[in-house]
Amino acid sequence: MFAIAIDGPAGAGKSSVAKAAAKELGFTYVDTGAIYRAIALYMLEKGVDLEDPAAVTAELTGVEVSLEYGEFGQRTLLGGRNVSEEIRTQEVSMATSKWVAHIPEVREFLVGIQRGLARKSNVIMDGRDIGTVILPDAQLKVFLTASAEERARRRTRQLEEAGEPADFQQVLKEVVQRDKQDAAQLDLLPEDGVVLDSTGLSFRQVVERLTAMARERM
Ligand code: C5P
Repeated sequence: MFAIAIDGPAGAGKSSVAKAAAKELGFTYVDTGAIYRAIALYMLEKGVDLEDPAAVTAELTGVEVSLEYGEFGQRTLLGGRNVSEEIRTQEVSMATSKWVAHIPEVREFLVGIQRGLARKSNVIMDGRDIGTVILPDAQLKVFLTASAEERARRRTRQLEEAGEPADFQQVLKEVVQRDKQDAAQLDLLPEDGVVLDSTGLSFRQVVERLTAMARERM
């Protein structure tokens, strides 16, 4: 199996770039953030106190999360229910990066699920610790980044296009806050990883660089 690990901060374009590259290479795109988000959603729905790691850990045994693939791309299932949309709210984003993702037991619980997905097919997996922890033997490890301003600009545009009026300064504040919350994972860069800074590059250029690097290694 061939695995590509893509890590980097929120809003760097990991998922759209990985999705497009996966299509070109014929790989499965695995969005690991969705699994973390599904756990946060589960805890929020159950009314578990997210600030209490022991309470969250105690509830983990009830979590049944899986990813499903088809023409629709990736679908996130929680106890068999499709939660692909619900996990994208601002509340879930913040709860995930502020609390849930920091609990070591949560991270451990998810290692097996993520590695299992990479055993089934060639994958492009995106997250925060894929190259360092989940798939340290991945044939290609990329750290995809862009300046906070560029990421906030793209996010603002996306929200506007989706018909949700967005304030750039507010979005920038959230980007910076998420960077801080994710710093523990993001500070670890695999030694053999490649940094791809997309500031000033077009979407196509980033996808082309990524697929070219993959083809060189295949
Ligand atoms: O990638 P996405 O923004 O959907 O991930 C949501 C949150 O889940 C991140 O902000 C991060 O806190 C956490 N996460 C993580 N490790 C991963 C993927 C996501 O800690 N591999």
